[in-house]
Amino acid sequence: MTEPHDITAGREVAVAGSVVVITGGGSGIGEATARAFAAAGGRVVIGDLNIEAAHRVAASIGATAMRCDVTREAEVAALIDRAVESHGRIDTMINNAGAIGARGGIAEISEQGWSDTIAILLNSVVFGMKHAARHMIPRRSGAILTTASNASVAALGPHPYSTCKSAVLGLTRSVAAELAGHRITVNAVAPGMISTGLTAALYGGDEATRRKSAEVSPLGDPILAEDMARWFVFLAGPGGRSMTGQTIVVDGGATTVRGPSAHH
Ligand SMILES: NC(=O)c1ccc[n+]([C@@H]2O[C@H](COP(=O)([O-])OP(=O)(O)OC[C@H]3O[C@@H](n4cnc5c(N)ncnc54)[C@H](O)[C@@H]3O)[C@@H](O)[C@H]2O)c1
Repeated sequence: MTEPHDITAGREVAVAGSVVVITGGGSGIGEATARAFAAAGGRVVIGDLNIEAAHRVAASIGATAMRCDVTREAEVAALIDRAVESHGRIDTMINNAGAIGARGGIAEISEQGWSDTIAILLNSVVFGMKHAARHMIPRRSGAILTTASNASVAALGPHPYSTCKSAVLGLTRSVAAELAGHRITVNAVAPGMISTGLTAALYGGDEATRRKSAEVSPLGDPILAEDMARWFVFLAGPGGRSMTGQTIVVDGGATTVRGPSAHH
């Protein structure tokens, strides 16, 4: 029988022994998150277009890796089905794979660039939510998490990137409303600038990107992929059991804090 003060009462939420599927787990935020779940005792399945990178990470943490192009629904479905076949269920889905996508001014944007970016940053999230929900609904348990961006809440990315990351907030709320009745939580983590493969190519390497990350953060330290990993583990576990439809912005205050308060 459950004691009244047992804070883990309710849906099954322990991360240890849980099954987590992470897209883009071969690098950056996804890699740090895969490592954090494995360290917490989770059974991790990584899907990545870069299968060598995914295998390298998986081999070092005892996880499974599978090639998956998240722009293709059948491949996302196959990744999640494989996790369920191997481990009997999926507890946490993390829609994380992404790229910067098409860049340039609104007067120059190409139709192809626009739709390719929507495919990688938005369609992928819809596919991940859909196929995770298919398995979670009958079990009345699960957490669906997505990597948004602080470009979700401020004009920081190229237009298609900002658009997709903003859409993730709406999708997260909307799907959370549907799935709440099935006791499935749906939340997002919105990172600020972190040195990863995605940004290091833009800002001149890892060191320069870390400096830039610290520079744009009012808290003054570079934001790390491991900081996002902690939030994902928290939201997948007991900490996230009473929250759904939310996006946590983890950007050192970059989109909130503007210099010292007028009261100081
Ligand atoms: N780095 C940042 O500053 C930052 C800030 C905010 C949000 N994000 C978001 O974080 C997520 C992870 O990015 P990251 O910074 O760790 O970059 P990263 O380049 O280090 O990792 C991205 C991973 O996604 C994989 N990937 C790319 N296209 C794919 C596809 N079609 N199918 C499957 N896998 C694919 C890559 O192979 C790579 O392993 C992205 O959604 C990105 O938009 C990053």
